[in-house]
Amino acid sequence: MILETQLSQEITKTSSGFNKLILKKDNLAYENLHSFVYWDLLNKKGTIPKEALKSIELIKKSINHMPKNYWAHKTANIQKGARIGKGTKVWHNSQIINGAQIGEDCVIGHNCLIQSRAKLGKGVKLESNIDVWDLVILEDYVFVGPSAVFTNDINPRAKYPKKKYPQHGQWLPTLVREGATIGANATIISAKPKRIIGKWALVGAGAVIVKDVPDYAIVVGVPSKVIGWVCECGNKINFKSTRTSCRICKRKYQKKGDKVWRL
Ligand SMILES: CC(C)(COP(=O)(O)OP(=O)(O)OC[C@H]1O[C@@H](n2cnc3c(N)ncnc32)[C@H](O)[C@@H]1OP(=O)(O)O)[C@@H](O)C(=O)NCCC(=O)NCCS
Ligand SMILES: [Zn+2]
Repeated sequence: MILETQLSQEITKTSSGFNKLILKKDNLAYENLHSFVYWDLLNKKGTIPKEALKSIELIKKSINHMPKNYWAHKTANIQKGARIGKGTKVWHNSQIINGAQIGEDCVIGHNCLIQSRAKLGKGVKLESNIDVWDLVILEDYVFVGPSAVFTNDINPRAKYPKKKYPQHGQWLPTLVREGATIGANATIISAKPKRIIGKWALVGAGAVIVKDVPDYAIVVGVPSKVIGWVCECGNKINFKSTRTSCRICKRKYQKKGDKVWRL
């Protein structure tokens, strides 16, 4: 079920003892749009003072006239408390769990799941059938091909779930850094303390990642190996010496060992 346009409100106390009211529409807090008010401590009866109520009504009206910030297909399930940035699109049958954070201008393809402790930056593109589990972070402009798999449990046991039996291990985080691409059907095995896919790296289709991937590396195979280097724009770059540039976009790079960076 998709939430209809909903206005909700939340009252918290600021550190200086004021009550702070945050109005929300479609689970997005309108804090930076002047849609919250501060007022002195609640009156004796514990109710909101009249003057504050008036301004709350005005603010509610103006929020109601604001265009919806993101778009979700009617079959998508967006749970209350999920934070979804402006311009993001959520396609058929995808589910966004309470607490999940998704930045602006993302595309969540069909049949994806974003769990409550997963985070997506801005401009992230998920194709279809992708589960982004708790502790998976996808930085800005990460691309994930169809049916790619993240994991957060290195030795899962149905009988001994990590939450109930922390002595048997813990869930592990994965960080996919800015601009990286994960090919179709690739599998990212989590690691202690954290699996890292470097920025602008390109993970080939079907690869199984058991080692961290350096920035700008192309990795393929099972288990995956570095077979080359790739520019931010997606074209291969070749290092005949320690420096090179992309023949398409002319970005310049330097390499030392398996470390590549932009000049
Ligand atoms: C990894 C990738 C970028 C390499 O492309 P490329 O640079 O044009 O690679 P080439 O075709 O020149 O292949 C180079 C070598 O890697 C091998 N190779 C390429 N892709 C591979 C893959 N996914 N898995 C295993 N080996 C692969 C090739 O067989 C070749 O091996 P060889 O040198 O022994 O002959 C590409 O194959 C890939 O997997 N892209 C991801 C596509 C995808 O999943 N898109 C999702 C959205 S549609
Ligand atoms: Zn380039």
